[in-house]
Amino acid sequence: METVTTIAAVHARVRAWHKEGLRVAFVPTMGNLHPGHVSLIEAARRHGERFVASIFVNPMQFGPNEDFAHYPRTPTQDERMLAEAGCNLMFMPDVAEIYPNGAERATRIDVPGLSRILCGEFRPGHFEGVATIVAKLFHIVEPDVAVFGEKDFQQLTVIRRMVADLCIPVQVIGAPTVRDADGLAMSSRNQYLTPQERALAPRIYEILTATAKRLQAGDNEFASMERAGCQALEAAGFKPDYFAVRQAVDLSAPKPDTSHLVVLTAARLGKARLIDNVQVRR
Ligand code: PAF
Repeated sequence: METVTTIAAVHARVRAWHKEGLRVAFVPTMGNLHPGHVSLIEAARRHGERFVASIFVNPMQFGPNEDFAHYPRTPTQDERMLAEAGCNLMFMPDVAEIYPNGAERATRIDVPGLSRILCGEFRPGHFEGVATIVAKLFHIVEPDVAVFGEKDFQQLTVIRRMVADLCIPVQVIGAPTVRDADGLAMSSRNQYLTPQERALAPRIYEILTATAKRLQAGDNEFASMERAGCQALEAAGFKPDYFAVRQAVDLSAPKPDTSHLVVLTAARLGKARLIDNVQVRR
């Protein structure tokens, strides 16, 4: 695996592959890789012939009181994991390479509506930062296909909308959430949990799954399920930001005949803000 830090080096490598007719698959990450990220590379391997991963902790997607400064950074370990997973090119730029005029003054991409609801309501500007960096990375890497985890379901939905709206010629693939044995979705932010909080954290998946079962059984009392989900999270010791049942296609309010639903939540537990979701097809 080759490691590069400049846009010019990525262009040179990927354009050479494209000249050879090779299909390039891309996995953008913020590093501190865990088996969930490795599963994204494995999904990429099913869709391409050469694999690129980026590691960039994007300042634009963090709010002023969020964990940008403390976000775990483990570049040496990440490089080893990507090489072992069969990645061909790792792009690890610094902030000046991506935002030469500073992140605050950079051109931004706004996906209205979708970016303001659910997590967007509690993290103003977050999805603008995500859409902007993903669009930039797509222009830098020029992949044929890109893989994102379904754990960040709203992020995936925002990216799909942006790609469609801006006619970006990249196929976006969602890969299933990878969970620890007790059901907790893998996340770099799980390491903010104390041992006691970590023991409690899988409740989030249990509560989502219980709601999914009600939906699967044909229950359409969406508002009552949302209230019950919030109450169950509170009773377990979480501080929920939201617990919502939505249409999976665009995160709009569900209707009784919606066949593809998603139950999403974001909840605080100590210093960690955990997000998770479960999809239901009926
Ligand atoms: O999901 C992430 O790790 C980030 O939001 C992403 C997509 C790499 C953009 O910074």
